[in-house]
Amino acid sequence: MTDQELRERAKAVIPGGMYGHQAAPGPAHPQFMRSGRGARVWDVDGNEYVDLMCSYGPVVLGHQHPAVEAAAAAQAKLGDCQNCPGPVMVDLAELLVRTVQHADWAMFAKNGTDATTMCCTIARAQTGRSKILVATGAYHGAAPWCTPRPAGVTPQDRANLGYYTFNDLASVREAAAEAGDELAAILVSPFKHDAGYDQELVEPAFARGLRALCDATGAALILDDVRAGFRLHLGSSWEPVGVDPDLSAWSKAIANGHPLAAVLGGDTFRQGAQQVFVTGSFWFSAVPMAAAIATIAALREERAIEAMHHMGTQLRDGILSQARSWDLAVNYTGPPVMPYLTFAGDQDHELAGVFAAQALRGGAYLHPRHNWFVSGALTGDDLALVLAATDQAFAAVRKHQ
Ligand SMILES: Cc1ncc(COP(=O)(O)O)c(C=O)c1O
Repeated sequence: MTDQELRERAKAVIPGGMYGHQAAPGPAHPQFMRSGRGARVWDVDGNEYVDLMCSYGPVVLGHQHPAVEAAAAAQAKLGDCQNCPGPVMVDLAELLVRTVQHADWAMFAKNGTDATTMCCTIARAQTGRSKILVATGAYHGAAPWCTPRPAGVTPQDRANLGYYTFNDLASVREAAAEAGDELAAILVSPFKHDAGYDQELVEPAFARGLRALCDATGAALILDDVRAGFRLHLGSSWEPVGVDPDLSAWSKAIANGHPLAAVLGGDTFRQGAQQVFVTGSFWFSAVPMAAAIATIAALREERAIEAMHHMGTQLRDGILSQARSWDLAVNYTGPPVMPYLTFAGDQDHELAGVFAAQALRGGAYLHPRHNWFVSGALTGDDLALVLAATDQAFAAVRKHQ
């Protein structure tokens, strides 16, 4: 069955043919993937690519990582979805508490949206207050309170949000003053990674300012580490910044592609965490928890975060030097392991689309409107193939201009 044939069938039985970020990033991209191994993926038509999207983050050690898959298979033999969790849940909670500095406890769910929503609920339960501050344009999931699309969302769904600008402490203070006695939490991403925009690293003084504001008001500082967690640091992404949140939301990379999310918190918010009723049909599932334990062990043993940083830096240097040689003005922003490329004055991401489509033809799978992800499986050969593809992609942009 070809990609085209599957698209035709999907059109009839899947609204819009596909939805959410499951939809192919552009017309040149395949809609259906067959398999993946290491840093390589294959589409249903048999084309092979070096994967620079890593399933939008979950794949951090590479596809089908042997130790992770062995741990998952061993747990699957024992049981996965049972009446109660397996012992593996306690093992994983203990491991996360040992691994992440601000964590004294852990709770588990399936998706990042579960985790960010739970953090807000816990903060409200504990403080007895209603308002959550979020950065304008930040993505925290697809529930009505946070989805970027307005369809089906009521004003009431957003009534308890206040807005600030990332890295602008004065705007947070203003929003906090407006929330007044109702300020329950400030939700923040470890860096600004709004899809389609240049990324912005956090200013340490901003992070410290949020911590101080939460300390002064009793509101919870919530770090949304869903996208960046365990790719930048083997701990929370703000540990290198020196700021600990009260609560943090995790998913994506924690189980190298197995479906799992986590909320981690400090003792100060344990009471709120005990009060809320949160659960889900598949939240028992032991296989992803076993996979998470093996993922964290492999991240440490393989020094994968250093490896990703090294390859990501080489990727950045290679791409920036190519852009210079093609005399193209680009912005390459964000941490080297989660970069994003834009072209100066590129209205509606037209040039980014040309670039991504040509890179794809050359065997590099990347995205025109979303940050990319480097995995620990990326080899020197993979990088060479990517850079050959991006050189041709810059040539295509030059020609298109
Ligand atoms: C920063 C951030 N928060 C929350 C989410 C929501 O996670 P999920 O799609 O697993 O619900 C995402 C997903 O991309 C994300 O990047």
